[in-house]
Amino acid sequence: MEEINKKKLPSHIAIIMDGNGRWAKKKNLSRISGHIKGVDAVREVVTSCCELGIRVLTLYAFSMENWQRPKEEVAALMGLLKEYLLKEAEEMVKNNIRLSAIGRLEDLSADVRATLDEAMRKTENCDGMVLNLALSYGGRSEILHAVHGIISDLRKGRVKEEEIDLSSFPQYLWTRELPDPDLLIRTSGESRISNFLLYQIAYTELYLTETLWPDFNRTELLKAIAEYESRERRFGLTSEQINGI
Ligand code: IPE
Ligand code: IPE
Ligand code: MG
Repeated sequence: MEEINKKKLPSHIAIIMDGNGRWAKKKNLSRISGHIKGVDAVREVVTSCCELGIRVLTLYAFSMENWQRPKEEVAALMGLLKEYLLKEAEEMVKNNIRLSAIGRLEDLSADVRATLDEAMRKTENCDGMVLNLALSYGGRSEILHAVHGIISDLRKGRVKEEEIDLSSFPQYLWTRELPDPDLLIRTSGESRISNFLLYQIAYTELYLTETLWPDFNRTELLKAIAEYESRERRFGLTSEQINGI
């Protein structure tokens, strides 16, 4: 904690929570036990980010591709999501956390969708941290969805072709109300993006750790933030320009 400079905190942290299955396998447990333990890690990281004063935390909880997993595993993940939302909504209100979600939410079953909507409604007036869940999310689909939105607005005369630029385009993404992530963490030793926030991570700092998601905790989070703070983000400029030399 002493290593963290509160003034240099990332505003938006995004996490690819990976490795639940391998964590369980190592312990001779079912993959589902790994997901259950993964939810505990989610609780710890949400609380820690909130205490630190992180503005936005985006968690990749379920990808569009994850629907193709064995149906028992998909059902268990959906069950855990629903249980988490039911249990945590009150806690979120207490901690002034506003829940939001990105992804093809229409793919969720009616009861999971209703639970999600209810949790978002309960927290809609909270103005502390935003907890943004990526559910049935795919970066390519998000970009395609944006293109369809633009075509529709052009046809309706709501926007002119010349108005579609780098400042207006993000308004068509599911993340329209959020800043781009400053820090992207991926657990479990994989070095890939797996269709996450493809447009938004253009200049995001990446932090890859071998730690499996169920073992990720406050200390690991602080390590990632300390590493982030030690980096120089240049956005294509020179170090001299960044430091005003
Ligand atoms: C992350 O853990 C959870 C989801 C993708 C939903 P995994 O289930 O992908 O765990 P591994 O990668 O098989 O270890
Ligand atoms: C990415 O993990 C998706 C989530 C963490 C929800 P995966 O386990 O699905 O990614 P791949 O298949 O290893 O790329
Ligand atoms: Mg995985």
